[in-house]
Amino acid sequence: MKEYDLFSPNFKANPFPTFAQMRQEEPIYAHRSPGGGTIWYITRLAEGTAVLKDNDHFVKDIRHTLPPDAKPPRKTAVHHLINENMLFADPPDHTRLRALVNQAFTPRRVEQLAPRIQHITDELLDGIAAAGQADLIADFALPMPVRIIAELLGIPPADQAQVADWSQAIISPGSRDLNYSARKRKVRAFVAYLQAMFALRQQKPQDDLISALVQAEEAGERLNEAELSSMVALLLVTGHETTVNLLGNGALALLNHPEQLGILRENGGWETAVEELLRFDGPVETSTTRWVREDFVFEGHPMRRGDVVRVVLASANRDACHFAQPDTLDVTRRDNRHLAFGLGIHYCLGAPLARLEGQIGLQTLFERFPNLRLAVPAGQLEWRSGVLFRGLKTLPVYTNAE
Ligand code: HEM
Repeated sequence: MKEYDLFSPNFKANPFPTFAQMRQEEPIYAHRSPGGGTIWYITRLAEGTAVLKDNDHFVKDIRHTLPPDAKPPRKTAVHHLINENMLFADPPDHTRLRALVNQAFTPRRVEQLAPRIQHITDELLDGIAAAGQADLIADFALPMPVRIIAELLGIPPADQAQVADWSQAIISPGSRDLNYSARKRKVRAFVAYLQAMFALRQQKPQDDLISALVQAEEAGERLNEAELSSMVALLLVTGHETTVNLLGNGALALLNHPEQLGILRENGGWETAVEELLRFDGPVETSTTRWVREDFVFEGHPMRRGDVVRVVLASANRDACHFAQPDTLDVTRRDNRHLAFGLGIHYCLGAPLARLEGQIGLQTLFERFPNLRLAVPAGQLEWRSGVLFRGLKTLPVYTNAE
């Protein structure tokens, strides 16, 4: 069986040739993990779509793979905070949780954010204008969506840095450096903070998402407190880990393709361009874990109960069976049904918000700094490790280079 390098810094710098090879040779690839389990990587769009739509064979809650008499795995406080939410739930729990948040996270609430997104973008770009150089990740791409999601939830400005520290320490890959008890302390502090916040919003609701979630009721069923904490944590994490990469990867792709940037400068069309940037080098490299519910044969491949399945979204989005000239960035591409936001019941809840942030953020950045240039050769840029996300560690630029 062939082995593919899916983890080295070299692979991370440019994974697309490896993905092309996998789509050609082993589009349903079984990787034997060091622990002895099997992880299936699905790299073509057709099979990826089939997996994302099949909630019977592929489940998100590992408990659904256990035989009825098995003891469920012990859960830690961290585990509860991260996993008791819709992204790791199957119907009917998923249906209930998603309906509740849908009720609170309305298109109107997202549309109303446009002026705030513009204001925060302008403020951050003002902040970097004078220095003439910046790290676009730390100075712009990260703080913009983090501030928006914190405001949307209703986290007061004075608490935002503390909440960002908790959520990053608890969930981000860097948090592995924290020892277990330090992590547990942070989880406890975060949960206590959230509980106090929920009580406050219950007594005195505000016009924010936490109040709406506290009040949300679907078919007479409210969220329990663990679910509420986990839902807020999920929204904060997605606020930290995803749109930052749309802004970072998107800015880099346009800096590397000045002729495409020229088209946008001449004719506009940022809405279409953001879809292409999501397809070409999107923020989420592989879907989150799905588990095989019971032994079965998928497209000729025998899968075992408890195997892990990951759809490689970044690969599916370069599948030549579905996209003309898939390795070419074309900001005017129309037929563009990419998988950057996933598909099926777990399709990204935040997609309308992320699109709006991408459009306003990137258009404003390139209009404000017409001479924006990379401050290091593109080949020297470093990518963050891990299979889930695809994003740069830093993106050094000159903002007023000639
Ligand atoms: C460009 C930015 C973003 C990208 C590319 C993205 C991508 C994704 C993907 C691929 C999934 C599905 C994962 C799977 O099926 O395994 C997902 C789910 C989700 N996303 Fe996003 N996301 C982005 C921004 C956001 C934002 C800003 C929020 C919150 C405000 C958000 C909230 C969620 C939630 C709650 C889910 C779980 C939905 C469910 O399980 O029903 N996302 N996202």
